[in-house]
Amino acid sequence: MLLAIKNVLNENQLKVIRTLLKNAEFVDGKLSAGKEAKQVKNNQELAQQSPLHDQLNQMLMPALLNHPEYQAFAFPLKVATPFYARYTQGMTYGFHVDDPIMGPMNGRYRTDISTTVFLNDEYEGGELAIKTSYGVQRLSLNAGDAVVYPSTSLHQVDPISSGERLVAVIWAQSMIKDPQKRELLYELGQARNILIDERAQSDETAHVSNVYANLVRRWSEL
Ligand code: NI
Repeated sequence: MLLAIKNVLNENQLKVIRTLLKNAEFVDGKLSAGKEAKQVKNNQELAQQSPLHDQLNQMLMPALLNHPEYQAFAFPLKVATPFYARYTQGMTYGFHVDDPIMGPMNGRYRTDISTTVFLNDEYEGGELAIKTSYGVQRLSLNAGDAVVYPSTSLHQVDPISSGERLVAVIWAQSMIKDPQKRELLYELGQARNILIDERAQSDETAHVSNVYANLVRRWSEL
């Protein structure tokens, strides 16, 4: 299952981020790719040593991490700092699976959840294609929106036919390792939210809340 979240970033935030990225130093994305991904990766990434990372992250990360939909779907435990990627005409990132373990030796984490935040929408092509059990789903969301999906999925970025595609990509280790359990909790959590809104004082709400809390307790690994 993948989740699209609307308006993670607002117009002002997008404007600032795009202005910062406009004159930033981008390098070949192959530099950060694993052995297999190198074969299919053709994009650019904000240089690791760029002084802009802090400013960009300060704007993006609270907006994503505090978003209730992100929390309900991802159960984030460890969240890595984002990569800022740029795709110009003809660039693409063929089907691949993200590295299972990332981070430096003293800060390793397992990638359970992948997130793409769309920073602009002035381009053609460049859809994010994700293989799911129901076939390939292709997404191109509005600037400011995000898509969140299990890192276990094969995915690609279709070639850009015109314009320039700017995204931020973020990985997280989830408290709930198993994607199917995460999905069950997300759905149960949605039902629980409706019950709390509509009949907070009822027995059934209390029971559903209790089951939800105890499943999170049973399944989470910290
Ligand atoms: Ni990827």
